[in-house]
Amino acid sequence: MIQIGNLQLNGTPLFLAPMEDVTDSAFRLICKKLGADVVISEFASSEALIRDVKQTQEKLKFDDKERPFGIQIFGNQADSMCEAARIAEKYKPDFIDINWGCPVKKVAGKGSGSGMLQNIPLLIHITRQVVNTTKIPVTVKTRLGWDETNKPIIDLAEQLQDIGVQAISIHGRTRSMMYKGEADWTLIGKIKENPRITIPVIGNGDITHADAALSAKQHYHVDGIMIGRGAIGNPWIFAASKLLLEKNIISPPPTIHERLSICKQHFELCIKNKGEHYGILIMRKHYKPYFKDLINFKETRIKLLTSNSLDEIRTIFQDIEKQYAT
Ligand SMILES: Cc1cc2nc3c(=O)[nH]c(=O)nc-3n(C[C@H](O)[C@H](O)[C@H](O)COP(=O)(O)O)c2cc1C
Repeated sequence: MIQIGNLQLNGTPLFLAPMEDVTDSAFRLICKKLGADVVISEFASSEALIRDVKQTQEKLKFDDKERPFGIQIFGNQADSMCEAARIAEKYKPDFIDINWGCPVKKVAGKGSGSGMLQNIPLLIHITRQVVNTTKIPVTVKTRLGWDETNKPIIDLAEQLQDIGVQAISIHGRTRSMMYKGEADWTLIGKIKENPRITIPVIGNGDITHADAALSAKQHYHVDGIMIGRGAIGNPWIFAASKLLLEKNIISPPPTIHERLSICKQHFELCIKNKGEHYGILIMRKHYKPYFKDLINFKETRIKLLTSNSLDEIRTIFQDIEKQYAT
């Protein structure tokens, strides 16, 4: 069991990694249904929250069925981050997560996200202010460091714990690796070996199938496992990982019928939340992963990716059912 504030989670909880433009409420609900224990919002800019930007406020909304749910914020100023935490608090999430890991230039280049890994004193200062501002547990998501020569994560984990951070998720890459190369979990394992560390350590990076989740647990003894890209088109990874971790049972891959059924549910949820226009656009990045490996699927995929009509897309789903799943 692990504890984040008053939140108690059994076994080795599985977290859906926050992913901008992917982990909206519809996808989070689908992942929850298929075994994710904890889900987190897409990152919300503290400056945009303060300026009441509607699109950013929308990111903070969630369905009670998503709980336990965390809101993730990013920024580079203590005042704005505290104000953003107060705004986030009003939505009553189970925790507030600070993003000190985003490598994207427009974020990290301004000293937000992983950019702050070059200024640990300021990172600690802002995090401490946020912890002291809110009654909700504060967690941090970060990377190993800025680059190969700067990996402060072992000391940083202790410092974050000491100022009251309640859990830390670590992506086993540096900023300079972006998303390339292989995630290195060895430093994550070292943090778990540190007897001073008592807060939950959630490992993240390259968990693309249940075997990888089991191996991460066995080798690095993390308290929780966070899965990002491996869940896109394959939300079953949560149930499969859970079954393998807890009961040593290997799950069969989802059938085409199951894939279609979940894709349809995802689609309808997305349309309900975002409306017809945006719902159709957002779903486009999910079709290829949902239907990967289907033979002779290219033409159907192109139709899915170019249609702007709800009815047409629903008819394409019916055609897929007829062609592949019966
Ligand atoms: C499309 C995309 C969007 C992402 N957006 C966020 C984000 O908003 N906040 C965050 O902390 N990490 C974000 N990440 C990083 C993921 O949370 C995760 O740390 C990373 O993908 C490594 O995990 P994985 O190998 O399981 O995908 C994003 C990653 C991707 C691929």
